[in-house]
Order: sequence, then structure tokens, then C-alpha cells
Amino acid sequence: MTPAAVLAGLGSQLPPRLVTNDELAARLDSSDEWIRTRTGIRQRYVATEGLLTSDLAAGAGALALKSAGLAQVDAVLVATTTPDRPCPATAPTVAEKLGLGQVAAFDVSAVCTGFLYALATASGLIASGTARHVLVIGAETFSRILDPADRATSVIFGDGAGAVVLRAGHPEEPGALGPFALGSDGSGQDLITVPRGGPPAPAETATDGYYFTMQGKTVFRLAVQRMGQSIRAALDRAGLRIDDVDRLVGHQANLRILLRLADEIGLPRERSYSHIAEVGNTAAASLPLALDHAHAEGALRPGDRVLLAAFGGGLTWGAVTLTWPAVDRG
Ligand code: UT7
Repeated sequence: MTPAAVLAGLGSQLPPRLVTNDELAARLDSSDEWIRTRTGIRQRYVATEGLLTSDLAAGAGALALKSAGLAQVDAVLVATTTPDRPCPATAPTVAEKLGLGQVAAFDVSAVCTGFLYALATASGLIASGTARHVLVIGAETFSRILDPADRATSVIFGDGAGAVVLRAGHPEEPGALGPFALGSDGSGQDLITVPRGGPPAPAETATDGYYFTMQGKTVFRLAVQRMGQSIRAALDRAGLRIDDVDRLVGHQANLRILLRLADEIGLPRERSYSHIAEVGNTAAASLPLALDHAHAEGALRPGDRVLLAAFGGGLTWGAVTLTWPAVDRG
């Protein structure tokens, strides 16, 4: 039997500084009312000076290991858009901070879909027999790449990290990740981008292009479409129907996207989990952070059939199902 990847532990960490909508509205041409009604966000957390993505990742990772009752894993994957440095990857630093020795460690880059892609990659490591336990982390200090003058992005994104431990197990047991449905469309590469940082383009000035930019309206429409498409494919591959789903945990991009997505796939809106009001959009950290908070709040209970879905820059998207296992909190 090919081993399945089974969720065995989870944890999360937020940075200490809380930023309210009012604080942002005081320096941007915006308002608490606009932010709440257009995004559902009330506040977000931001990394203080010197706090790195690897610090948040290690904090969440330590809690996930504790939750799984493990001191060692065979691989560490970090999904992030904001690595500590462009080179090398952040995962070896995280492994070092966690005292995991010479474990395999690498980053996964798929912006807000990164954690889902990392879960799929970890499942492959387990299915091939390369690893029996994998720590999968989504971590961001997104505030570092936001243009402080851009009200369209500054109000949305926040920092944070979430992590899960996957172990080799049986495809039919609770916690086993179902077949993934993943996709990408590079023709949309300019819709969500930090334009500079790659090979130098002679025409560019030194000051332009280092901040994150997003064409929000188009991205909104595509997020609903593509997550809907991948959800239908993931359910199909798992032999499930939408009525079988107890809880959707989708990428926390915008509350309106999550509600529109529920309508699109025919899921009662109250089955879609959201804590975007408290944390904002934390990009690659969004899914594991939402899983940990939903679990802590009792919104995910053992036996619940759970659907995960994400969409992000690339463009990239994906979905997967699992039955929620009995799991301790780190
Ligand atoms: O995580 C990766 C994937 N990301 C997403 O899925 C995000 C997708 N997009 C969105 O969530 C939404 O498009 C936004 C929240 C980014 C924007 O909401 P929107 O309802 O699409 O607003 P809009 O861009 O159409 O802007 C409407 C108006 C504009 O003013 P005019 O042109 O109508 O005068 C904007 O300039 O709202 C204005 N606006 C703001 N006003 C106050 C944009 N941002 C703000 C702001 N405060 N922060």
C-alpha cells in the first residue's frame, strides 16, 4: 500500500504588534467602514523590526511538533512569499532554529497557494517513502513588501505563520489528505507581483517595482472561479459531493470572496470558516493559521469532512479534502 500523508499536529504564531483599521485609516485615504465592508477585515498583526519570517515559522513549527508529540521529522517545507533573503531558502534556517539537525529542508513558492502546494509536495515525499514525518509551514512577513502608500494592499495583508505535521499513514484513516487538484496560469503573472528582484531590466529605475502590487478586481473574480474549479476537481477525485462537506477552510483573502465561493460551489455559507476579521490576509500562512484557529475554536471537530482551497499569485490555485482527525493543540 502507498502510504498517505496524515495530519498529526498543528500550531500557529502571530507577531506581537496589532494594527487596527483605524490606525491605517489615520495615515491612508481609507476608513474602518470601507475596510470592513469591502474585505471583512478588522485588524491584522505585523512583525516588529528584526522579527523574521523564519522566527514566525519556527514558532509555529515548534507548536506543531509539540501537538504531534514529535521531536524530529524527516523534512521541513516552508511556503512563503517573503523569505528572510532571496537566497538561500528559509526552510534550512527554520530547521536550524528548531534544532532539527541535517534534515531535508526547502521552500515552496506559490504565493497564497504556497501552503497547499507544500502539503501536496510533502504528501509526495511520504507516498514515495522518502519521508515518514514532514513539518509543513506557511509563514509570511508580508508587511515588508507592502507599499505603505498603497491603500488597496496595505489594508488587506498581515503577517503570521501556521504549521502542520504530516505522518505516513493509511489513506482511509482520519487526517489522510485526499488527492489534490492543483493548477496554474502564467498568463496572469502580472496580476499579483513584485515586479523587481529578478534579472535587471535596463529601462527600470532603481526605486520602482520593489513593492507588492495586485489588480484586485480581476484577482477577486479569478479567485472565485479557480478555487471553485479546483474544489470540484478535488471532490471528484475523492469521490465526494459538495453535500458531504462539513467545513470549507479557504484562503482568507477577502470575506466577500469566501462567501461568493460558497455560493459558487453550492455550499451553505455558514460552513465556510473565516477569521479574516482578526488576522487579515496572511498569504501563504493563511490556510494553516486558519486551520489552527478553527481547531482551537471548535469549528473543526473530529470526523468533520473538511475542504481546503487556495488561490494566489502565479496565478496558482488548488484544493484537497480530509476528514478532521483527533489532534492535540501545541
Ligand atoms: O491573496 C491573494 C489573492 N488576493 C485576493 O484574492 C484579493 C482580491 N481582491 C480583493 O479582495 C478586492 O478587489 C480588494 C479588497 C483589493 C478591493 O475591493 P474592491 O471592492 O474590488 O474595490 P475596487 O478595487 O474596485 O475599488 C473600489 C473603490 C475605488 O475607488 P473609485 O475608483 O470607485 O473611486 C478604489 O480606489 O475603492 C477605492 N479603494 C479604497 N477606498 C478606501 C481601494 N482601496 C481602498 C481603501 N480605502 N483601502
